[in-house]
Amino acid sequence: MKDIFRVAIDGPSGAGKSTIAKAVASGLNIDYIDTGAMYRAIGYKAGREGVAPEEGAALEEMLARTEIDFAGGRIYLDGADVESFIRTPEVSMLASQYSALPSVREKLVELQRDMASRKSVIMDGRDIGTNVLKDAEYKIYLTASAGERAERRCRELEEKGTPQNYEDVLRDIEQRDHNDMTRKLNPLRKADDAIEVDTTGMSIQEVIDRVIDIVYKN
Ligand code: DC
Repeated sequence: MKDIFRVAIDGPSGAGKSTIAKAVASGLNIDYIDTGAMYRAIGYKAGREGVAPEEGAALEEMLARTEIDFAGGRIYLDGADVESFIRTPEVSMLASQYSALPSVREKLVELQRDMASRKSVIMDGRDIGTNVLKDAEYKIYLTASAGERAERRCRELEEKGTPQNYEDVLRDIEQRDHNDMTRKLNPLRKADDAIEVDTTGMSIQEVIDRVIDIVYKN
């Protein structure tokens, strides 16, 4: 393990990236940056303001007056804590749509690189190992079958008191996989030098141990 290092975790929706990244960050005592939350914050704001999911003056203008920050493990949009508004199925779909737009990605990637420039971090998303932190010391591609990801998401939603039908959740996941993997700009894909961890059938603790092991052993 090096003194200052970056861990990139990519993978499809619902693979458990943020749960794992948060736990590994605390285990290694480094910062965690949830880039999906940043795309969610943009989707949330654009949806609220009625800015269409296409390039143009309205989007440019909105991005120019958008500030995103993390503090105490929560995301702040223009100074307000929006953590509890950005995890709904609606905002998930908005985030997937707006994240395909070049001006949105340009703004967020610049911010992400800046956040990772001075300290050790673990960053999760879709294009971290292939684009944002191409030279990250450790790259992990976390995945699981669509069926298992849908089951996990259903359990989460039920625990939150907002249960959803399994078929709808699965369809949503498959739609987002399709959007994320086929968009023109920096689509989700495993970096050639990433280690793939298929978490189907693994417990959260087993995945955390596996990722920490990868960092310690390389
Ligand atoms: O990881 P998540 O589900 O919170 O991500 C929300 C959306 O943002 C998802 O549809 C893909 C997009 N995203 C992206 O395009 N690039 C990233 N680095 C992170 C997320």
